[in-house]
Amino acid sequence: MLDVDSMLREFEVELQAAPGLDALQALRVKYLGRNGKITLANKSVNLGAMSPEERKAFGMEFNSLKRRAEASLQEAEDRVRAQTDAVEQVGFDATLPAASTHLGALHPVTITQIEIEDVFRGMGFQVFQGDEAVSEFDNFDALNIPGDHPARDMQDTFWLQNGMVLRTHTSSMQNAAMRKLGAPLRAIFPGRCYRNEAMDTTHENTFYQLEGLMIDRNISVANLIGVMKELIDKVFKVDSRVRLRPGFFPFVEPGFELDYWTTVGGKERWMELMPCGMIHRKVLEHGGIDPDEYGGFAFGLGLTRFAMIKFGVPDVRLLNSGDLRFASQFTASI
Ligand code: PHE
Repeated sequence: MLDVDSMLREFEVELQAAPGLDALQALRVKYLGRNGKITLANKSVNLGAMSPEERKAFGMEFNSLKRRAEASLQEAEDRVRAQTDAVEQVGFDATLPAASTHLGALHPVTITQIEIEDVFRGMGFQVFQGDEAVSEFDNFDALNIPGDHPARDMQDTFWLQNGMVLRTHTSSMQNAAMRKLGAPLRAIFPGRCYRNEAMDTTHENTFYQLEGLMIDRNISVANLIGVMKELIDKVFKVDSRVRLRPGFFPFVEPGFELDYWTTVGGKERWMELMPCGMIHRKVLEHGGIDPDEYGGFAFGLGLTRFAMIKFGVPDVRLLNSGDLRFASQFTASI
């Protein structure tokens, strides 16, 4: 007898694979044409040898096969036509795969910055932005570094002809942040800084810092340590040990260098990570905040340095090199 199902299945497989109207037309000829496979199925059996009941059953099967094949084919043709019409109306074929574009990658410093910002947002800090060309006052005087102070020599500066400077540190935003946001205040300010450095593997004339200020009543060194430890733990994914050593910066009193205990080249040791300290009274006064009522801490994190530690970048100059072979290697875990 006629195997309707298997013939129909064979037909459907070819129908699925037919790419367009021409292919569908060829399929029609192949199966339903005068010498088509389905058409000829009629002749593959000896009708004369069948009983009237058998002949009747066969006739019904055969007709149903033809009808179903015809219907599927018609449906496929309608679908292709509708698609072609749509393409003509829209002007392009929306079913084609999109042209592939090259998506860029985030720079390792950007990845590190976003991660650090997240940690601080979680502790209630806001992100504050400032200018790269700033007044001499913002970069120095407001930070208790007057014109004749030797501390100015610590930062070899690019002076602009109009008397402004390319900020040598993100501390240049402290004054504006205090004046704009007032106390109590929790803010971080990431940014690009410039110094007239002799460049080597760890010194660049253009680098990134991320400054932080927390000002409130009753802020102590314990708060500073707590916040710094939280930062290191989250960014380096460790349970860190930290220590403070005395460090001098005119805008903090007392000032510290914060170290953390880590493994370098298989050996455990203290690593200097972040300058920080309790904000100097004079800096608060410059910022319009009463130092008898409020106090706080400040830290200046080397964002470039953090990124180098985090990703194991051996030479700072790679970061600004614009070399895509370097820059496209980093993936954000964010
Ligand atoms: N601005 C200092 C520097 O660039 C770092 C610093 C910031 C130190 C805040 C203490 C507090 O060297």
